[in-house]
This record gives sequence, structure tokens and C-alpha cells, in this order.
Amino acid sequence: MTFDKTILITGGAGFIGSHVVRRFVHQYPNYKIVNLDNLTYAGNLENIKDIELYPNYAFERADITDLEQIYALFEQHKFDGVIHLAAESHVDRSISDPLIFIKTNVLGTATLLDAARRFWKDDYEGKLFYHVSTDEVYGSLGDEGLFLETTPYDPRSPYSASKASSDHLVRAYHHTYKLPVVLSNCSNNYGPYQFPEKLLPLFINNIRNNKALPVYGEGINVRDWLYVEDHAGAIDSIFHKGKLGETYNIGGHNEWRNIDLIKELCRQMDEKLGREAGSSEQLITFVKDRAGHDMRYAIDATKVQEELGWKPSLQFKEGLSKTIDWYLSNQEWLDNVTSGAYQKYYEKQYAVTA
Ligand code: NAD
Ligand code: TYD
Repeated sequence: MTFDKTILITGGAGFIGSHVVRRFVHQYPNYKIVNLDNLTYAGNLENIKDIELYPNYAFERADITDLEQIYALFEQHKFDGVIHLAAESHVDRSISDPLIFIKTNVLGTATLLDAARRFWKDDYEGKLFYHVSTDEVYGSLGDEGLFLETTPYDPRSPYSASKASSDHLVRAYHHTYKLPVVLSNCSNNYGPYQFPEKLLPLFINNIRNNKALPVYGEGINVRDWLYVEDHAGAIDSIFHKGKLGETYNIGGHNEWRNIDLIKELCRQMDEKLGREAGSSEQLITFVKDRAGHDMRYAIDATKVQEELGWKPSLQFKEGLSKTIDWYLSNQEWLDNVTSGAYQKYYEKQYAVTA
């Protein structure tokens, strides 16, 4: 079979990557999609089982920090484009184990950039390196204001500092070697296949099992939530229509204080599980705050909306309801990913913060 383009997607066995891979495999039968992932605790081939037999899909198990391995894959597949999502992504883990974040997020991104530069050898016609990043690089907001693409970087956790470093490297390769790049910085995602260490899937799983809901600090931190398929749609638009060298902020215009979000989650879960109203809220337990906990993130997504015509498609309460339904009807997935090493992580993380 011949394809118009071969696209490397890194981290496609993780949460957001699996949605991006699925979308591209379905929407673009003329592209060959190569999903590269080394299947850390957060990567799971179950997340993309539905597309593994598609003729335009291939999986490669590889480590983005291994230049030899990555370069060999460029030679083998002759990638025209890269959509780079592979990363260590959980802030709490970056606090307890920062160095793996520096290795994967900084060295891994540099390795991919260098493989692309060497393989494309200045012939950049039809080539693109798309780097997927986070709004956390901008730091923390007070009560007012939104993150713009021009907001100065002020990362404050090892996770956000490692992502900020990777963003700088992408821009440096563009400036120095003219590598064709585009970047996006997105707010908090939620939806199916998110590893249950992050707030929403963790709390859905705990409510299901009648376990405590560990709310950090007073629960007054604010996040801007976006349904993961909307993020995948934005990535599609930016990959195809974004201007070279540009950055696009992506967000849901959907700010929630953690405690309000958790109460809405409890309300919906009580209804869906047929429990008495108010019963899940009783599981809320305030625990020691996260070290250096950023107070508020909120994105101004005007640029991507005005220039590329992207906007979120789903209302939050509807997205939350869909998300809860997915986890409740995929309990086997939840049970699989929360067995083994996850138990140790949970005991360690929540023994420290409780
Ligand atoms: P995730 O942790 O669910 O998945 C990360 C994937 O990367 C996993 O499949 C893992 O196996 C893979 N990976 C890790 N190290 C690797 C290595 N050395 N080599 C190859 N593969 C490796 O993460 P996610 O939440 O899907 O986030 C994906 C990207 O989006 C990240 O770059 C993250 O910074 C960014 N992002 C996430 C959010 C969010 O809310 N989750 C928001 C904005 C941006
Ligand atoms: P998280 O899902 O880890 O995303 P991020 O830190 O990247 O925004 O956390 C979302 C918010 O929920 C954040 O303010 C921290 C808070 N939180 C808790 O209160 N308890 C928890 O157990 C977790 C995992 C997060």
C-alpha cells in the first residue's frame, strides 16, 4: 500500500496520544500512522486496541531518549511529520521523582528534534515537527487574567519546568536550523483512557470503590478543563493549518475550582450509581497540599479559534457525564491499570499527603 505521508505519533499508548492516534487513523486513511511508545506505567496498548489492525497503523516500541533507535526508525519509515506527545506527565510524580521527567521530557524531545534535523537534512518541504505541550509552562495565575501565547514562561514544578525546557528546544531548532515546527499549549484534559492518578479518573474510581477522595489543601485551586477529543481535534487543525514557528494555546474556557468540580462529580456519580444524593460527597477528605501547588490555570484560546476556526464542541457537564459513563462501563480497564505497581504508587503518594 502507498500512503501520501507517514506520520510519527509519540506517546500514542497514553491518554491523549491514544485519542490523537485513533482520530488520525480514522480521518486520514491516506496517511500511515506510526505510534511510537515505550509503554511506561502510563502507556497501555489496550487504549488503542480498536485500531491495531487498521492497514494504515503500525506500533513501534521504542524509547524517545535513545537516539540510535529513534534515528533507525526515521530511516525505516521515512517520517514526513512528527506529532510529539510522549512524556512523563503527572505533577505529583515529578515532585517525588524529578529526574525521569528531565530525561524523558527534555532529552527525549531533544533526541527527536535531532533525529528529524539529521534525517530531513535541510530538505524541509512537506515536513513538520509538532510539539504538544501544556499551559503549566506559564506558571500560576491570580484571580484575574488568562494565559496568552505571549505570556512569559514561569514554570514552577519539575514537570512544568521540563515541559518548558522542551518547548524552548523546539523553538531553538526552528530558529537555528529552520526546522519546521509548530507548538500548542493546552489546559487540563479529561475523558476516557486517562490514567487514574489524575484527578478525575482517580476520584471516579475511588467513588466507585467507596474510598476517600483526597482533596489537596482547601480545594480552591482552579483548572480549565477540556474534553480530550476536543484537544485531539485542535491538534488535527494545528497540524494541518497551523503556521510554521507558531504557538497555539488550547483551552475550554471552562474554569472550575477543584472542590466545585468534585462536588459536581459526586452529584453525577450518586445519580448514575443509584446512591442517595449527597453520599459520595461524604468521601471528600482534605489532605496536605501538593508542594508548590499552582493556584490557577486559564487559557485564552482566541488565536486558535480566530486563525484556525477551532473551538471546543462539548459542554463540560455533558463531557463529564460521558466520561463517568465510560469509566463505569470499562471497569475491567480500570481494574487492570490499577493493579500491581499502581497500588504501591497509591500507598506511597497518599500516605505522604494524608
Ligand atoms: P500520559 O502520561 O497518559 O501518556 C504518556 C505516554 O508517553 C505513555 O504512553 C508513555 O508510555 C509514553 N512515554 C513516556 N516516556 C516515554 C519514552 N521515554 N519513550 C517513549 N514513550 C514514552 O500523558 P498524557 O496526559 O496523554 O499527555 C500527553 C502529552 O500531552 C504530554 O506531552 C503532556 O505534557 C501533554 N499535555 C497533557 C495534558 C493533560 O491534561 N493530560 C494537558 C496538556 C498537555
Ligand atoms: P491533576 O489531575 O494532577 O492535574 P494538574 O496538576 O496537572 O493540574 O490535578 C488537578 C487538580 O486536582 C490540581 O489542582 C491538583 C488537584 N488534586 C487533588 O486535589 N487531589 C488529588 O489526589 C489529585 C491527583 C489532584
